[in-house]
Amino acid sequence: RKRFRHRDFLSIADFTGEEIMGLLSFAAELKEAKKRGETHTFCAGKSLAMIFQKPSTRTRVSFEVAMFDLGGYALYLNAQDLQLGRGESIADTGRVLSRYVDGCVIRTSRQEEVEELAEAATIPVINGLTSWEHPCQILADFLTILQSKGQLAGLKLAYVGDGNNICHSLLLGCPRVGMSIYVATPPQYAPHPTVVARAQEAAQGTEVVVTEDPVQAVKGADVVVTDVWVSMGQEEEAETRKKVFLPYQVNGELVSHAKPDYIFLHCLPAHRGEEVTAEIIDGPHSLVWEEAENRLHVQKALLALLL
Ligand code: CP
Ligand code: NVA
Repeated sequence: RKRFRHRDFLSIADFTGEEIMGLLSFAAELKEAKKRGETHTFCAGKSLAMIFQKPSTRTRVSFEVAMFDLGGYALYLNAQDLQLGRGESIADTGRVLSRYVDGCVIRTSRQEEVEELAEAATIPVINGLTSWEHPCQILADFLTILQSKGQLAGLKLAYVGDGNNICHSLLLGCPRVGMSIYVATPPQYAPHPTVVARAQEAAQGTEVVVTEDPVQAVKGADVVVTDVWVSMGQEEEAETRKKVFLPYQVNGELVSHAKPDYIFLHCLPAHRGEEVTAEIIDGPHSLVWEEAENRLHVQKALLALLL
């Protein structure tokens, strides 16, 4: 566990498959311990700054509760209320925060901004979502799949919808843990080619396939995943997107091609009747509430290991 100390977590690709699996087993232990009512001191005397440029329900609450559960303290910082909002640089913000706190979560649009913060800061920096990646979410997804299926290696995951941050982190994460990934998006909303190329490089016997055909992606899948069609910051494109993505809706017809015991995941927030029907997200194959809960457990493991 020492190998994690003081590292950043900016991308799911920052961890090897072995490290991800190690973190997940620690998260599972912490989840059990919480159910038994045990408390921990892994982060006693430590503070976590959480900078948010965008709204959040799960990330904000789960990180804050995670620090509390570990005996530490978390500060929610709305970027607009910081000097950052009036032009102080992200690097200077990182240098200053490093003198006060022991770790920093940041949610912002540009991945480069997160990298700049990590470069200037002397404390671990955690990506709490950029428009490029959402690595904490993928840890929670993996814990959910692992606990439902008993393994990750050998499974097929289908991601249907927008080639966005969630799609990128799944592409980079799945091959690392031995899962095949099929991504189906409209051609103009495909994941970035550099991400696809990196995923394919890491493939090692797993399949990394990007297609326009949602049925091909979902066929025989163990896990079906989707995400919103309009991500934070894309509100102006909403109308166009809602038309283009219509054939990519996860509904009863589409999932009829998946394995009979497939599970459905969605990072939330969800829009019933858009990317997924109520029948599916509120149906027996959906594990979205477990998935949301698991954000807490994986982030506790992450904080205990990095800080
Ligand atoms: N899934 C997720 O990151 O949710 P929030 O935007 O509510 O944090
Ligand atoms: N793709 C979504 C994920 C929200 C958790 C967004 O970036 O808005």
